[in-house]
Amino acid sequence: MFSERLIMTPGPTEVPYRVMMAMTRQETNSDLDPDFLSFYQDLRSRAARLFGAARSRVYLMIGEAMLGLESAIANTVSRGDKVIVVDNGVYGDAFADLVRSYGGVPVKLGASWRRAVDLGDLERALERNRDAVAVTVVHCDTPSAMLNDLAGVARVAKSFGALVIADVVSTIGAVPLQVDSWGVDIAIGGSQKALNAPAGVTLMSVSEEAMERARRVSYQGFYMSLLQWDSWLDSKGVFPYTVSEPLLYAVSEAINMVLEEGLDKVYSRHLAARRAAWAGFEALGLRHYPDLMEHSSPTVTAAEVPEGVDEARLRDLAWRKYNTMIAGSWGPLQGKVIRVGHMGVQASPEKLARAFLALGSAMRDLGLRVSPEEAARAALESFRY
Ligand SMILES: Cc1ncc(COP(=O)(O)O)c(C=O)c1O
Repeated sequence: MFSERLIMTPGPTEVPYRVMMAMTRQETNSDLDPDFLSFYQDLRSRAARLFGAARSRVYLMIGEAMLGLESAIANTVSRGDKVIVVDNGVYGDAFADLVRSYGGVPVKLGASWRRAVDLGDLERALERNRDAVAVTVVHCDTPSAMLNDLAGVARVAKSFGALVIADVVSTIGAVPLQVDSWGVDIAIGGSQKALNAPAGVTLMSVSEEAMERARRVSYQGFYMSLLQWDSWLDSKGVFPYTVSEPLLYAVSEAINMVLEEGLDKVYSRHLAARRAAWAGFEALGLRHYPDLMEHSSPTVTAAEVPEGVDEARLRDLAWRKYNTMIAGSWGPLQGKVIRVGHMGVQASPEKLARAFLALGSAMRDLGLRVSPEEAARAALESFRY
């Protein structure tokens, strides 16, 4: 049916031609070439616009997002420190393991996975644990398509004097972020989601308060230490270790694409993509996950697979027969929901229409009474911004 492959998974995402070509740029020597250092410093300031960071420092480190997430915890949590963990999703919950692995004591909210975190629950947890040093939260918990109110979480956490550590891996470059005015101390982004670059670069914003805490915690490792970046890059203008030039050129080009389109336009396009994906799933008769569109991310939409349908078989059919890759999920949602990513270049009416045509066709092949054409039309017609 379709001759071209289409990747509609919520990261890694398709790498556009411009970004691919950026990686072919001749390398010099990242440690010795002053022009490369200037390029990196300029890249930091362009990345800062996506974070909404005027005061926080922005670093781009080589390693996928897990590096940034672990670095955030390693540098701020010492033995016995209490951390409130907003656990309404796979990655939200996983923060508890990270905290534990650095000797910290996670206090999980026990929040529902079907909706964004209740700020009242967070407030009550902080009242009961006034000694908590930090709150961790995931902006978009990709496996359940959940969107938490990051500004609200930060406001509550800050009123108790706790540091705010936020995973913005699958929202940066697609959903507004204002880390400084919201009070997010460390935000961690990834390259392979809405930025449409290859995996392998962690983007981090770090507030002065977080850096101050890192000095007190004094994490003894090297690769993940924020103090190394402070004392080498910020103090001496030298990288703490060799960075990957091609990957940074890719991220730079990806950020240029976002800034050229304009942040406001990019954000509206992602909201339109969410409406389109919700309409597509609705036309196929599937129940959305989470329940409300406002609690669902502008970068990915999830829906429950109908009773009796083998989710892996459905995806396999969409890929093998219709050349369209959609995603399942992880953890407790594995086998129960399917997901369509609409991040960066995926957030387009054509691509979403095609995704729902393919998904609907695969459902029909499995004997379900659905109209793929209706689903595609619903997605197209809802994509307005
Ligand atoms: C919300 C979120 N956080 C963290 C990660 C981990 O990112 P990486 O695989 O780049 O380490 C992912 C990856 O899917 C994610 O969706």
